[in-house]
Amino acid sequence: MKNPANLLPKDPHGCPFLILAPMEGVGDRCFRKAMASIGGFDEAVRDFLRVPKNAHVKSLAVEYEADELSPIPIAAQLMGSDPDLMADMAREMEARGAPRVDINCGCPSNTVTGRGAGSSLLKEPDFLHEVARAVVQAVSIPVTIKMRSGFEDISLFKENLHAAEGSGVRYITLHPRTKVDGYGPPARWDLIAEAKSILKIPLVGNGDILNVEHALKMLETTQCDALMIGRGSVINPFIFHEIRAHFSQQPYTPLWEDLVRYFDVYMAEIPAGVSMRTRINKLKQLMSFLFKGNAQLLELRAQILTSQYQDSGAFLEFALPLLQGAWQKNSAK
Ligand SMILES: Cc1cc2nc3c(=O)[nH]c(=O)nc-3n(C[C@H](O)[C@H](O)[C@H](O)COP(=O)(O)O)c2cc1C
Repeated sequence: MKNPANLLPKDPHGCPFLILAPMEGVGDRCFRKAMASIGGFDEAVRDFLRVPKNAHVKSLAVEYEADELSPIPIAAQLMGSDPDLMADMAREMEARGAPRVDINCGCPSNTVTGRGAGSSLLKEPDFLHEVARAVVQAVSIPVTIKMRSGFEDISLFKENLHAAEGSGVRYITLHPRTKVDGYGPPARWDLIAEAKSILKIPLVGNGDILNVEHALKMLETTQCDALMIGRGSVINPFIFHEIRAHFSQQPYTPLWEDLVRYFDVYMAEIPAGVSMRTRINKLKQLMSFLFKGNAQLLELRAQILTSQYQDSGAFLEFALPLLQGAWQKNSAK
């Protein structure tokens, strides 16, 4: 089914559609594969593929793999501002089996294209419309937009929503911070509620969901149709299952074995040529997020992050038992 009627179906217990956010760097292929080994989300979005001026789309397109997380679908996200090249890249994505193409209107401006891509598109609603329209017309799979609330301020917020909707995209994901905000101030969920009241197409709410309570509060206060979670999943890889369990009312207890598998998959997915030092640093980076979500684990932070191992396997053998002790204490609380 290339263009299903409802792209954001709820599960049988009424849990909204849950999407793993694109996160360039942190949320790379290793992380996505590790997350897929735990599961709980309905779809993932790959971090953006750049579509620079004079791009050779065929060679850039190979980075996208439709079956990366099979059976979980993964959408392709494009960042660029040349309407023709964006359309060409979208066609490549469709040919490579992408279930949907998302247009990035959120990442900090970059200079790869004359008029700026990502959040720069929010400075010119008419141009945003032109780019999105070109992509929509190029493919038969659904096209969506992920946007921030503005570039410097929110003065063009409504115009951008209308421009996006008018282009024919199937839904919008809103991360309600401006580009200038970065990740500093809290996400303005009131803008998600406002967007929901303006748009006729569905809206995915995103920003600062770190636990089940946040997810429920976002749904209740904004009436958004689905949820996208980024950093909350790096801090707690079980967050999607926990949200789902709230709706099914089936108790859900994350298992230690699942977390071990998460690290094993993560490590196994690090490409062969990557140095041991980088491997260990990647593992430490992933663990440093876990510490943020768990006070017991936080006590181990320094011990684990400053450890000096030359081998990633030996590092995991050292770190995992420490984590396990704290994990069990935390679960027993
Ligand atoms: C390290 C990092 C990389 C990101 N990369 C992308 C990206 O490639 N494309 C995109 O649309 N958003 C990107 N984002 C934004 C996230 O998808 C998301 O909108 C934002 O983090 C707010 O959601 P959260 O509070 O659930 O993390 C990135 C965020 C982070 C922290």
